[in-house]
Formats: sequence, C-alpha cells, structure tokens
Amino acid sequence: MPLDGTHKFAADEPVEEPYYLPTGNEISLFEQCHAQKLAVMLKGPTGCGKTRLVEHMAWRLKRPLITIACHDDLAASDLIGRFLIRHNGTEWQDGPLTRAVREGAICYLDEVVEARQDTVVVLHALTDHRRMLPIDKTVETVPAAPGFQLVVSYNPGYQRMLKDMKPSTRQRFVALDLDFPPLEHEAAIVERESGTDPATAHALVSLAQRIRSLRDRGLAEVPSTRLLIATATLARNGIPIHDACYAGLVSPLSDDESLVGAMRDLVDATFI
Ligand SMILES: Nc1ncnc2c1ncn2[C@@H]1O[C@H](COP(=O)(O)OP(=O)(O)O)[C@@H](O)[C@H]1O
Ligand SMILES: [Mg+2]
Repeated sequence: MPLDGTHKFAADEPVEEPYYLPTGNEISLFEQCHAQKLAVMLKGPTGCGKTRLVEHMAWRLKRPLITIACHDDLAASDLIGRFLIRHNGTEWQDGPLTRAVREGAICYLDEVVEARQDTVVVLHALTDHRRMLPIDKTVETVPAAPGFQLVVSYNPGYQRMLKDMKPSTRQRFVALDLDFPPLEHEAAIVERESGTDPATAHALVSLAQRIRSLRDRGLAEVPSTRLLIATATLARNGIPIHDACYAGLVSPLSDDESLVGAMRDLVDATFI
C-alpha cells in the first residue's frame, strides 16, 4: 500500500456504501471539518449511530478508516508503535495511529474517555496547526498526509468525574451532537437494518420512546437503535414479538424488578 496518501481505499474497506440515515446537518458538518482539517468529536448515547456515521463518511470521503477501541490499559505505544525484538536486532512497528497519519486515513478513537490522559495527550500535536505526530522513540516527526482526520466518540451519559475529557483536549475538536433519531427516521433505520415490516418497526420505536422516558424513574441505560434492530431481527426470524422484546430489549437494560416489570407492561401494551 503506498504511504503517500494517494490510494483511495484500504484493502478491507467495503466498496458498498455503508447505510446512514442523517437526522440533521451532521454529514455536511463532517465533510466541512474534513476539508478544513478539523478534528471531530461525535457525542451521543450508545448505539445511536456514531460508528455507522464514521463508516459512512470514510466511504463518502474515499479515505481508509482505522478504528481504535479505547480502554484504560491503552498506552501511548499502542497508538504510536513500538520496537519489536527480532533475532537480528530490533525493528520499529507503526501503531494504528501512526499508520493513519502516514496513509491519510480517518482515525477513529471509539470511547475516547476510556483512555488514560497520558495516552490522549499524544493526539494534541495532531489536532492543531502542526498536524504532526512526534515519535519520541524513533526521534521522528511524522507529518499528517492529506486526508488524515482524527475522529473521537464520546458518550456524555457515561462520563464520570474522573473520566471526563480535559478541557484542553475537548477544545481541539468540533463536536457533532447525535441522539436517537425522530420516530419516523428511527423506524426506517430499524426496518432497513433488520428487514422487518414497517408496522413492527414503527411499534418497536414507539415502545422504545416510552421506555426511554423511564430514565426519570432511574433507568440508567435506555434502549438504543442497536437494541431495536436486534429485537426486530429476532422477531423477523420467528421469535414471538413479546419474547423478542423481553429478551432483546427489556432484559439487557436492567436487573431491577420494578423497572423490568414496568418495561414488560409497556411491551404488553404495545403488542396486544
Ligand atoms: N442514522 C443511522 N443510519 C443507519 N443506521 C443506523 C443509524 N443509527 C443507528 N444505526 C444502526 O444502529 C446500529 C448501532 O449504531 P452504531 O453506529 O454502532 O452506534 P454507536 O457507535 O453510536 O454506539 C448500527 O449498526 C446501525 O445498524
Ligand atoms: Mg460505536
């Protein structure tokens, strides 16, 4: 693969358009950020379409996509690279961030607040006018190839005091606010992704909207579009709709008896 950013697709990139139904101006904002070399932060609850949006944008912008799932063990070297011991000495191996910088790829750091602060700091020089990745261990500074873009995702509901992003980091991103789409949109997504019929998709989304309002009664996790798709897929493949909802939608969300009871009642009221 050429390293000058001239190739259009990564070998494993799907050529087919990843389906993404926009609800606002997120596609044009994202496109503008890419053109203006601005890093993007996708904010929104789990399963609302952040990853799908990035996949769609990489396809649209004809850039390879390199995704890194962040966790608290993720070290800077996991992003940048490390020396590997070989029988005849050591050999430097680029990490995924370095590859993205060299190739002009879109680098997507999923759930960035999970990463340690000292890991996140390596992103700083990439997100300002320098657009450089300093690699201390090889005493090299890698300039970002054209087309390189940094994208992070962030679930504001999950932020804990210790796991919030530092203001100095936040201010390096343009934030796109995503949320669950309006009823008709979300029903279209569920229908398309699961292959269910329009009436079932519609009923599932209105059920989800009612369950989401239980947040005020202490439901910490509300049903995502992803859960609705899983439930609809079960139902479409022969599981009775009530059972599909209990297993696919209600039980994953809570262990609390009264909340589970309230959700089951909503299921029974929706699908009579
Ligand atoms: N706007 C959308 N357009 C198309 N599919 C969507 C959209 N939002 C959610 N989905 C569907 O929901 C699933 C979960 O979305 P995902 O992007 O993985 O969520 P997140 O990354 O926010 O947790 C996707 O695989 C896709 O099937
Ligand atoms: Mg995701």
